[in-house]
Amino acid sequence: TYVIAEPCVDLLDKACIEECPVDCIYEGGRMLYIHPDECVDCGACEPVCPVEAIYYEDDVPEQWAAYTKANVDFFDELGSPGGASKVGKINRDVEPALSLPPQQH
Ligand code: F3S
Ligand code: F3S
Repeated sequence: TYVIAEPCVDLLDKACIEECPVDCIYEGGRMLYIHPDECVDCGACEPVCPVEAIYYEDDVPEQWAAYTKANVDFFDELGSPGGASKVGKINRDVEPALSLPPQQH
């Protein structure tokens, strides 16, 4: 799977959403999250993020390692809806984004 990391927090550029062929990038309160089971590893989202927030799971920078778990934890209650557009924005986040101070961009 691919993982969205800290640079997305409080920016939510959303260019990535347009690229995903399986609509598996979900909008939380302060960032977006990639569904680890729905992502088909196509990689189309990664180059379009203007702040390089998206990484293949094996390439997530060490300082953002907790975001790999965040992209799993976000879906604890949601399960696998099979498409982000029908779900819409979910005004909720998980750690570490949840407790992160406001980010300037
Ligand atoms: Fe976030 Fe980058 Fe997508 S800022 S919303 S991961 S394009
Ligand atoms: Fe979609 Fe990116 Fe995965 S475009 S399929 S979330 S690698």
